[in-house]
Amino acid sequence: MILSTKQMLIDAQEKNYAVPAFNIHNMETLQVVVNVAARMKSPLIIAATPSTVEYAGAAYLVAMAQVAAAETTIPVAVHLDHFEDIGKIKQSIDAGVRSCMIDASKLPFEENIIKTKEVVKYAHRYDTTVEAELGKLVGIEDDVVVDEKNAVYTDPDNAVEFVKATKVDSLAVAIGTAHGLYKGKPKLDFIRLKAIKSKIAIPLVLHGASDVPDELVEKAIGLGICKVNIATDLKIPFSQAVKEYFINNPEANDPRKYMTPGKKAMEKVVEHKINVCKSAGRY
Ligand code: 13P
Repeated sequence: MILSTKQMLIDAQEKNYAVPAFNIHNMETLQVVVNVAARMKSPLIIAATPSTVEYAGAAYLVAMAQVAAAETTIPVAVHLDHFEDIGKIKQSIDAGVRSCMIDASKLPFEENIIKTKEVVKYAHRYDTTVEAELGKLVGIEDDVVVDEKNAVYTDPDNAVEFVKATKVDSLAVAIGTAHGLYKGKPKLDFIRLKAIKSKIAIPLVLHGASDVPDELVEKAIGLGICKVNIATDLKIPFSQAVKEYFINNPEANDPRKYMTPGKKAMEKVVEHKINVCKSAGRY
């Protein structure tokens, strides 16, 4: 069964670990994250951006995740990542998705509240959890680029007001991570994270966890992050392995053959990230 992220994030919050949210793009990448999470007994959030849902179709994604989840005992959620269009969120909920992010972080504070509230109202009718974002992350996500001068860190007092006004289930915070790869070593504002955590009770989410040293992600989890989003760190080894396969086998034309090394390379990273999240053996 495809679940919401409600209980899995509460469990993670109580026991001080994080649930990994892995961005997938097709059947192969979905199989990798489910198989590894199932083997390691880790809860799992399968994340899909708007362009992934457009590429694969919400009903296909839900159906694939249902088949995969039925073969395991771990909790599995399908989560809409960085959705800005409320109509598309509603369509995906109607197709069976039970967890979503409304990303209105580019809008002014009051408008972010209004949009998030509308999604919460609809989603909660279907036991669907809602994540929102306050502040702005730099980097590239789903082909959307935010440059450094437009980055805004989450203000702890705004976070209190936002959560109270929207009744959102979890909050993505901007504390210095970025989507995609970093130019230098990332610097995370742990003082800010502590302040936010001390003021709000709902689960906190770390976006842009690729290319961040493990010890920084672990520290963020220790300070209250209970969902960690990972995309780029999975895409790179998958693509690299497929490229190498073609270099070594230029005549290859069987997707089952050239996808397999990609899956194997991705498996290793998924396993590593689950260990960083300390989510193995929880179910
Ligand atoms: P990365 O690509 O940096 O891992 O970011 C993923 C993310 O935050 C998805 O929402």
